[in-house]
Amino acid sequence: MMIQLRNITKIYPNGFEAIKSLNLSVQKGDIMGIIGYSGAGKSTLIRLINRLESPSTGDIFVDGIDMVNLKEHALQKMRQKIGMIFQHFNLLASRNVFGNVAFGLEIAKWKKRDIAARVEELLDLVGLSDKANFYPEQLSGGQKQRVAIARALANYPQILLCDEATSALDTKTTKSILGLIADIQQKLGLTIVLITHQMEVVREICNKMCVMSNGEIVERGNVEQVFAIPKHAVTQELLSFLPALSSEEILKQNNKEVYKILFVGRYIHDPLISEVIKKFHININILAGNIEALSTTKIGHLFVSFSGEEYRVKEAIHYLEQKGLIVEKI
Ligand SMILES: Nc1ncnc2c1ncn2[C@@H]1O[C@H](COP(=O)(O)OP(=O)(O)OP(=O)(O)O)[C@@H](O)[C@H]1O
Ligand SMILES: [Mg+2]
Repeated sequence: MMIQLRNITKIYPNGFEAIKSLNLSVQKGDIMGIIGYSGAGKSTLIRLINRLESPSTGDIFVDGIDMVNLKEHALQKMRQKIGMIFQHFNLLASRNVFGNVAFGLEIAKWKKRDIAARVEELLDLVGLSDKANFYPEQLSGGQKQRVAIARALANYPQILLCDEATSALDTKTTKSILGLIADIQQKLGLTIVLITHQMEVVREICNKMCVMSNGEIVERGNVEQVFAIPKHAVTQELLSFLPALSSEEILKQNNKEVYKILFVGRYIHDPLISEVIKKFHININILAGNIEALSTTKIGHLFVSFSGEEYRVKEAIHYLEQKGLIVEKI
């Protein structure tokens, strides 16, 4: 087991119990997502793993090492095995990209020449080789996070902790950063613990997940398992906010022709799909769908594939269009 927390509690000096008797195991190579609402205790939990916080009771083992009883020097050494990235990147404004990535290596007293070679390698890994001389204020959010990732990986860590690492980024940049993290995980065999309040982040890259609420893990398991049969009310609610997959993502998973059917307003309540199936003797496989409430009306999207004789499918599509639906091949 790469990370093991046993019977952890964390009571802050003001008496607030942020973590209540918590157990957690993370296996080598896992990408563990920790999801929960604001104040659930996620940051507290992740900061216990590298001992930025100390637990009030309980044991923490990282790669078999008892983290709670480590002396300061040994703790510093262990921390080098654990990289961390944050929501607001935490770059040093006074240092350029090279200087930010080099920082930890300077502290670890690497030779200048080794530092230069390592930084070059890292910037290549995160796709920022051409930005070595840029300062943080000259970078986009996504680029800043890439620098932070390079910095976190500088010392060859085995573990990467990510605390809301994509929360300050737009959807597309989030995807590219998550893609980078997944890629690096594969290349380096990292173990990752990733905190988020967005289910789509968990869906995108995690294999395991825990749902936190009020200082406790209320649900845990493989991502597919939890998404398929969410048991706890918090999990169910978080899942209900999950945006529908984009048409591009649905296409990726299907080799059949996919159509998008758009319903507006009153048509949402008509059983048109089952009517068409019966009337034209075809099958309609529903791949994804959702209904959105606008302030003035409702809009429904369905992503489907048709099967059956070609002319019947054409007739069926024509019929749906006549009924006022918009059918679009994607
Ligand atoms: N230093 C502190 N002293 C007292 N209470 C604290 C301290 N730090 C955090 N807390 C409390 O512990 C609880 C959990 O905080 P934590 O930062 O771990 O939540 P979180 O799940 O990361 O939330 P968010 O999603 O907003 O980042 C909160 O109720 C917070 O008020
Ligand atoms: Mg937090």
